[in-house]
Amino acid sequence: MFAARHPILIFFSVVMVVYGLVFSLPERPLRQLDDSELRAWALDVGLKPVPETFDALRGLVDTDDNRLSPEKIALGKMLFNDPILSRDDSVSCASCHILAEGGDDNLPTAVGFHGLRNPQHLNSPTVLNAALARSQFWDGRAPDVEAQAAGPIQAPFEMNLTPDEVVRKLSAIPRYVDAFYQVFGEEAGGLRFENVQMAIGAYERTLLTESNFDLFLRGDDAALSASAKRGLNLFMQKGCKGCHAGTGLGGLSIQRFPLHRPIVEVFDNEPFPFPNEGGFLGRGERRYFRVPILRNISRTAPYFHNGAVEDLKEAVHIMSKYQLGRAFTPAQIDDVVAFLKSLDGTLVFDR
Ligand code: HEC
Ligand code: HEC
Repeated sequence: MFAARHPILIFFSVVMVVYGLVFSLPERPLRQLDDSELRAWALDVGLKPVPETFDALRGLVDTDDNRLSPEKIALGKMLFNDPILSRDDSVSCASCHILAEGGDDNLPTAVGFHGLRNPQHLNSPTVLNAALARSQFWDGRAPDVEAQAAGPIQAPFEMNLTPDEVVRKLSAIPRYVDAFYQVFGEEAGGLRFENVQMAIGAYERTLLTESNFDLFLRGDDAALSASAKRGLNLFMQKGCKGCHAGTGLGGLSIQRFPLHRPIVEVFDNEPFPFPNEGGFLGRGERRYFRVPILRNISRTAPYFHNGAVEDLKEAVHIMSKYQLGRAFTPAQIDDVVAFLKSLDGTLVFDR
């Protein structure tokens, strides 16, 4: 009789009991691994080091669609740093992607042309290692760094120029006219907007960084602290590596966030475990995001697509609770953060 009158109540009671049981089960203990087991497993799950030799580095990022050459890379570097690509000569790519600051601007949301903020309150991701990603932008809407570069130049709140205006401005400068003809030649169209994208993309492909984690993966046991090794073990065994994978520790897939929501938050109106400033909801407005690259993460605060979280520990707490379904303890967070700090690196093509 009770069940007939209160089917919804019964249903919820059952859900709560099952939920309580599942989450009161003791956690599976971590498998302890020595250094060589840890390394072998990391390599096995695809946490690859940045290659050591110049040829191998090149092999990782060079592509038939945009062959790298020293001249093309030099032209791209010049364009990346030149505010000529903005309407009032005030904003360059480097204004928001400061290499010495981890490849971003350390602001919650990007500020571009005339001090305008990104209308969706989006945070500037790092350009370091971005070329390793299979798609670009928070929602992965551009396929590669070359396609990506067309966006900020034209966005009214970033650099605010049309492709024709870009070509006109650059054509007035003999240094650029010469460089474009030298790199792209007559048959590739010389100074064209598409070639601006190609040159910038070629430069970005060289922005790979090498870290202590790479040294560890290549065989140096002493490159990681004991805490960072425990953090790496957690990162793999608890499942962070399921999304943050590959050489960039991210960038390979588009994933839902938040994935697991504690049942007590069912009636919470906020779509994220932080204020939804800007209202961005990711790909298809369905809370799907291109998984961020974790290399240099300790230097690219604040975190998440709208820069709502300042502290890396808080970001790791949120990831463990909402992406893995079980919050890490403070000690576990410290270890994972020690591991993440081992991903800070320096540019490799410069060495
Ligand atoms: C006003 C600040 C600003 C300027 C100027 C700017 N960017 Fe960005 N950049 C951003 C923001 C914000 C995003 C994320 C936007 C989004 O996802 O819609 C971004 C995304 C990117 C990404 C994608 C990275 C990833 O992991 O998805 C790359 C690469 C990039 N910018 C390169 C450039 C280049 C090249 C230029 C110059 C042509 C440039 N940016 C100019 C703020 C800026
Ligand atoms: C199911 C996929 C998935 C798993 C598992 C996952 N992440 Fe993430 N991670 C994401 C996505 C997607 C974002 C971007 C969310 C956003 O900005 O709205 C993200 C963002 C982050 C950020 C912030 C990046 C930035 O540039 O702002 C950090 C740090 C991070 N994850 C670390 C971790 C750690 C540590 C773990 C394991 C505890 C983990 N992630 C598990 C998908 C995942």
